[in-house]
Amino acid sequence: MNQPTPRAILFVCLGNICRSPLAEGVFRHVADANGFAGRLLIDSAGTGGWHIGSPPDPRSVEVAKRNGIDISGQTCREVTDADFARFDMILGMDCSNVDELVARAPDGAGDRVGLFMDVALGRAEEVPDPYYGGASGFDDVYRMILTASRALAGRL
Ligand code: 4NP
Repeated sequence: MNQPTPRAILFVCLGNICRSPLAEGVFRHVADANGFAGRLLIDSAGTGGWHIGSPPDPRSVEVAKRNGIDISGQTCREVTDADFARFDMILGMDCSNVDELVARAPDGAGDRVGLFMDVALGRAEEVPDPYYGGASGFDDVYRMILTASRALAGRL
């Protein structure tokens, strides 16, 4: 993906209730600790619209809270066409998110899309969907997102 110094980063998953709200909250927390959250627009969205208007999944809220991060005020929304103009870095949690984003991107905006772990760490790994699994899946997702967020923040 094209990687200019981003001013606006959008985290994207399928439902926008498990992974991407956690990525939004964790990355904002890390950026805050590094003193530059105020210079960035940080948001999240889903490629699917089933949960529009809902807060994040309670399991994501819980793992964030346990690590000192409050994501309970977030509201689920779906990716829009305007996002491709507004955000210069649009990061999918897994390869199907990336494929869907590239398919929806207007001409010329596809290079704003990348796989989160790949862009952050240079590792073409997916953040797995924890929705149908147990609570430990949310801990694993949290750890992956924290590692990737620290790496991404370190490069900005
Ligand atoms: P997310 O997880 O993409 O990490 O938010 C999911 C949440 C809900 C559904 C799928 C994935 N769902 O099918 O409702």
